[in-house]
Amino acid sequence: RTGLVTIPVVVHVVHHPDEPSQNVSEAQIHSQLEVLNQDFRAGNADASKVPAVWKDRVADCNIEFRLASQDPDGNSTEGITRTESTKPSFSTDRDDVKSSATGGADPWPSDDYLNVWVCGDLRDSIGRSILGYAQFPGGPPSTDGVVIANWCFGTEGSAQAPFDLGRTATHEVGHWLDLRHIWGDDRGSCSGSDLVSDTPNQADPTFGKPTFPQFSCNNGPDGNMFMNYMDYTDDDAMFMFTPGQSRRMAACLEGARASLLT
Ligand code: ARG
Ligand code: ZN
Ligand code: CA
Repeated sequence: RTGLVTIPVVVHVVHHPDEPSQNVSEAQIHSQLEVLNQDFRAGNADASKVPAVWKDRVADCNIEFRLASQDPDGNSTEGITRTESTKPSFSTDRDDVKSSATGGADPWPSDDYLNVWVCGDLRDSIGRSILGYAQFPGGPPSTDGVVIANWCFGTEGSAQAPFDLGRTATHEVGHWLDLRHIWGDDRGSCSGSDLVSDTPNQADPTFGKPTFPQFSCNNGPDGNMFMNYMDYTDDDAMFMFTPGQSRRMAACLEGARASLLT
């Protein structure tokens, strides 16, 4: 594929009436769309912080995101739905946020839209707090999309440091377009792979704001690419996708997710 593609997005805001910060503003939503449009075009200002040895591995992924202007019935829309919920927080295991029957909001057809749910606190199946989660391509349409907790969504309003630069959505949309974690999801070992050839083999996720270089899996002299969006560093410490990751996302948009572009 050559040239730019545009993905229509619908943001489903699911909020509890006692927690007004969950009902994120239009400005907060637009701030998130702006981050996606910078990060997937290598237009983010902090790309300048990429270590010199990897400057040529910063990819413009040629993907842009636009809030939907037509709803599934063909009516004009702002690309935002708002649902008042009885649930102040959600768990990943039953995908409750993705269905009106379980206190969430139903998706718009996943062959035409990227569904983004924004809600209160998120917990995984064993009760740990998480920032967001995504469904990989090929899953059930009824749960397709990404979910982001409001406190790490966008760059203003309820967004909170160190997750207030909109990078949770960049990371989750990366998964939604078939990217794996950069360390290959094999904690403490070097056998896992992210199936991308231009990201160094890396043992484990990286947290916080590391200093370059960091090593694992005999990956010297440059070491772990912890500033990649598919690691777990803070929002202000991640700022690149690679050409290999860009090709993997392009393949997804020509394959499993081709319907989005028609
Ligand atoms: N824990 C999440 C996941 O595995 C997202 C982590 C995003 N990191 C960030 N700095 N915003 O999908
Ligand atoms: Zn992830
Ligand atoms: Ca690994």
